[in-house]
Amino acid sequence: MSRILDIFTKDALETARANNTYRSMRLMETPESSRVKIRMPNGASQEQILLASNSYLDLANIDELKQAMAQAVLEWGTGSGGARLTTGNKTPHQELEEFIAKFKGEESAITFNTGYMANVGTISALCGKNDFIFSDELNHASIIDGIRLSRAKCFVYKHNDMADLQRVIQEAEKSRAESVLPAPRKLIVTDAVFSMDGDLANLPELMRVAKENDCLLMIDEAHATGVLGKTGRGLAEHYGCAHADVTVGTLSKAVAAEGGFVAGPKQLTEFLKNKSRSFIFTTAMAPAVAVAACNNLRYIDVHPERVQNLRDNVKFFCEALQREGVNVEQSPSAIVPIVIGDEAKAMQISAKLQEQGILIPAIRYPTVAKGQARLRASLMATHAKEELEFAATKIAEIL
Ligand SMILES: Cc1ncc(COP(=O)(O)O)c(C=O)c1O
Repeated sequence: MSRILDIFTKDALETARANNTYRSMRLMETPESSRVKIRMPNGASQEQILLASNSYLDLANIDELKQAMAQAVLEWGTGSGGARLTTGNKTPHQELEEFIAKFKGEESAITFNTGYMANVGTISALCGKNDFIFSDELNHASIIDGIRLSRAKCFVYKHNDMADLQRVIQEAEKSRAESVLPAPRKLIVTDAVFSMDGDLANLPELMRVAKENDCLLMIDEAHATGVLGKTGRGLAEHYGCAHADVTVGTLSKAVAAEGGFVAGPKQLTEFLKNKSRSFIFTTAMAPAVAVAACNNLRYIDVHPERVQNLRDNVKFFCEALQREGVNVEQSPSAIVPIVIGDEAKAMQISAKLQEQGILIPAIRYPTVAKGQARLRASLMATHAKEELEFAATKIAEIL
C-alpha cells in the first residue's frame, strides 16, 4: 500500500476502532430466513434465530418464487445490458412498474436500482439550490444524501414533532422574506417507518401541515411496504387516509428482491425519467430481478395473512419482552429497538446473544446518535412463537 493511501485511510479506521464504531461484516452461510447459519469468530458454523432481517415477510425462500426467478433468468438472461433510456428497458421493468402503481393505488410508478438511489435521485431532481427542504431529524441516510446533492437549504425538525415542523417552516419563511431570490419551492420529507426506532410518521398531520404551508410531501416507505396496513399497502392504508404527493419505497426489504420505486401521478414519474440522474445514468436492474420483485409483490397481494402473521409476531415479541421486564414499547412496525446507550455495551450484549444462538445486531453511531446504541430487533412473519419467547427470555437474562 502506498504512503498516500495510508494517509487517506488510517486515521479514520483508528478512530473508529477507538470509539467502538469500527464496522465489519458477519458471514452468513445460508439463505436469508428466520433461522440461518453464521460463521462464528472461532470459525465454526452456528445456527441462529435471525432477528435482524429486513425480509419481514420471509419471501426470499419460497420455492414457487425462487423458481419463477430462475425461470426469468433462463428467459431474460443475467443482465439488462443498458440504461433504461437506451437499451435496458425490457418488458419485466414495465410490468413491474405497472404492478407497483396498482399495488400502491397510484396512477404510475418508476423503478430505480435501489431504494437509496430512488431517494437520492428523486430529492435532487425535485429540489435545487434555492429551494427549502424540511427533514425529520431521524430520516434515513439516503434522504440526507439526496438533500445534500440537491443543494437546497435544509431545515431539520425534531423527530415526528409537528409543532417543530411548523416552527422551522416559519423560520424558513422569515429567511425568504429577507431574500431577493425567487420564491423557493418547499418539500417536507420523512421516513414512513423510522428504520432505527420502528415508529411511524404521522401522515394525516404531515398532510395538514404540508397543505397549510404549500409544501410538497414525500414519504419513504422502505420499511412500510408489505408491513403497514391490513394488506401491506403502507402508511396511507395504516391511517386510512390519502397518499402523500410522492411515495418512495424499496423492493429489497419485505418484497425480498432488489430495487427502489417512486409511485405517484404520471407527471411525477415522467419528470423523474427526464430529470433524475440516478435513474438516467445507470444500467437498468437485471430483468430477472424485476420479474422477482413483481412476483413477490403479487404474492403479498394475494397473501395478506402473511402481513397479519408479522403483526401478530411483533405484538407477541414486545409483550414477551415487557413481561420479562425489558424496557420496550409495542412497535407499530416490524422493528423493535432495545436501547442500550453505550456503544461497547451494546456490542457485548449482541455478542453474548449470538453465543446463545440469537442474532440481533448492535446499531451504533453514526447510524444512530452517539450514546444511543441499541439492539435493533426486526421480526419476520415466519418466526415461531417459541423462538420469540426464547429470544425474549435470553435478552432479559443478558441485559
Ligand atoms: C428508510 C430507508 N430508506 C431507504 C433505504 C434504502 O433502500 P435500499 O436498501 O433498497 O437501497 C433504507 C435501507 O436501506 C431505509 O431504511
